[in-house]
Amino acid sequence: MSRNLRIRAAVESDFTGMWPIFLAVVAPADTYVFSPEATRADAFAYWFGPGVASFVAEREKRIAGMYKLIANQRDLGAHVANASFMVSPGERGRGIGEALGRHCLEEARRRGFAAMQFNFVVSTNTGAVALWKKLGFKIVGTLPKAFRHGRLGEVDAYVMHRFLDTSPE
Ligand SMILES: CC(C)(COP(=O)(O)OP(=O)(O)OC[C@H]1O[C@@H](n2cnc3c(N)ncnc32)[C@H](O)[C@@H]1OP(=O)(O)O)[C@@H](O)C(=O)NCCC(=O)NCCS
Repeated sequence: MSRNLRIRAAVESDFTGMWPIFLAVVAPADTYVFSPEATRADAFAYWFGPGVASFVAEREKRIAGMYKLIANQRDLGAHVANASFMVSPGERGRGIGEALGRHCLEEARRRGFAAMQFNFVVSTNTGAVALWKKLGFKIVGTLPKAFRHGRLGEVDAYVMHRFLDTSPE
C-alpha cells in the first residue's frame, strides 16, 4: 500500500479536494460516462447523493483518490453493491487504487452486501480491468459499443462481478 495513506469516510467539506480529481478523470472521456462538461452540482450529487457512502484516500492531508459505495439496485437487488473509483492522475501507479478497492470490498462486507458489481467498466480501460481482475472480479458480460470514447469512438463496456464471501486472493 502507498505509504502514509489514510482512507476514511468522506464529509461534504472534502468535496473541494474531490472536485478537481473528478474533473481530471472525466476530461479525457475515456473511463466514465460523465461529459467533460459535467457540473459541480452533478459531481456533488454523484458523491454525496442519497444512499451513497463515499470514502477518500488522503496522503499528507491531501485527497489523492476516492470511492463511492452504493446498493446496485433497490429492494430485491439491494444485496449487491456497486462502487466507483477515481485516483488523481498525479497519484496513479502507487497502489492507491488497489488500497481503495480492498477497503471498499471490506466495507461492503461489513455492511452485509453479498456481492459487488461494476456495471460499466470501459473495455479499453486496461488499468481498471487489470485492477478489478486482481481483486477477484470476473467479466460477466459485455455491452457492445456502449461507450462513446473521446478518442476511440464507440467501444464495449464490461459488467464485472464478484461475490464477497472470500477475500480478494
Ligand atoms: C483505475 C485506477 C483507479 C487505478 O488506480 P491506481 O492508483 O493507478 O492503481 P494502483 O497503483 O493501485 O494499481 C493496482 C493494480 O491495478 C492494475 N493497474 C493499475 N494501473 C494500470 C495500468 N495503467 N496498466 C495496467 N495495469 C494497471 C495493476 O494490476 C496494478 O497492480 P500491480 O502494480 O501489481 O501491477 C486509476 O487509474 C483511475 O482513477 N483511473 C481513472 C478512473 C477510472 O478508470 N476508474 C475506474 C473505473 S471502472
